[in-house]
Amino acid sequence: LYRARTPKTLPTFLILGPSGSGKTSLFTQLERGTPSPTHISQVPATATATLPPSITTESNRYRSTEDPTLLAQRRITLIDTPGHGKLRHHALSRLSAPPASKTKSATVPSFPHALVFVVDAARLAPGSDSLAEAAAYLHDVLLALQRRHARARTSRGPGTVPVLVAANKMDLFTAAPAKVVARALEDEVGRVRESRAKGLLDSGGGGEGGRAEEDEDAGWLGEGGEGRFEFRQMEEVDVLVEVVGGNVLGGGGPDVQAWWEWIGRQL
Ligand code: GTP
Ligand code: MG
Repeated sequence: LYRARTPKTLPTFLILGPSGSGKTSLFTQLERGTPSPTHISQVPATATATLPPSITTESNRYRSTEDPTLLAQRRITLIDTPGHGKLRHHALSRLSAPPASKTKSATVPSFPHALVFVVDAARLAPGSDSLAEAAAYLHDVLLALQRRHARARTSRGPGTVPVLVAANKMDLFTAAPAKVVARALEDEVGRVRESRAKGLLDSGGGGEGGRAEEDEDAGWLGEGGEGRFEFRQMEEVDVLVEVVGGNVLGGGGPDVQAWWEWIGRQL
């Protein structure tokens, strides 16, 4: 009879983003179905979570969730990371790690299956420090993924990397809707890439009057020189960014359904 293959390592979803955006709250919510009180994270944390019955995975869209052989495929590993500027290596180091299939030991960090970048949607006002901080971090994450793609030796590349930008705290009336969050982040990430490019030139690294288009290690994120940055430009390097709103806390209770659905689509 048909026997389900139980994967040795569960697909890993790496949670990252600026401090105070709600990563640990989300991590505990996804693991336990209810968020725990948090304090500033200083070390990463790992947990196993199971998809709620209402969520269908992409690979099993036409099969019943009651099917016991599917249960093993409904479990994921979550990694929560600290958002503080000095502790981001915990998340960023994993973006240059080898994939799980090539890592022998389970204790050595491996490249995640997907990324969940959490932002506080109530703190992304144009010109604010919090928007600048979120965008600078997101820029560096996307650039790390772009470099990984450029380094890949096979013509097929290292595979697609799904990135969920979880626009959190939608329960707050000051929160911007997901579409506005997306535009604000795109604009600000665009500003970061301009200033990084300028910084490279100013420091004399420009050489032939500018960045080298073909240079795999070029620091320029996405395509296009002068134009506006858009998350869509990352598709060129197999990075698929989606911005989805929700909230972990709030008077009306948590709303994490759309994020679970996104997770299900990555399985
Ligand atoms: P670091 O560990 O410092 O990187 O922060 P973090 O991203 O883990 O943030 P954390 O989960 O600790 O949450 C920060 C604050 O935001 C806490 O006071 C949470 O209660 C609050 N918070 C998290 N999610 C929500 C939400 O959906 N709505 C509201 N209103 N507050 C939230
Ligand atoms: Mg935390």
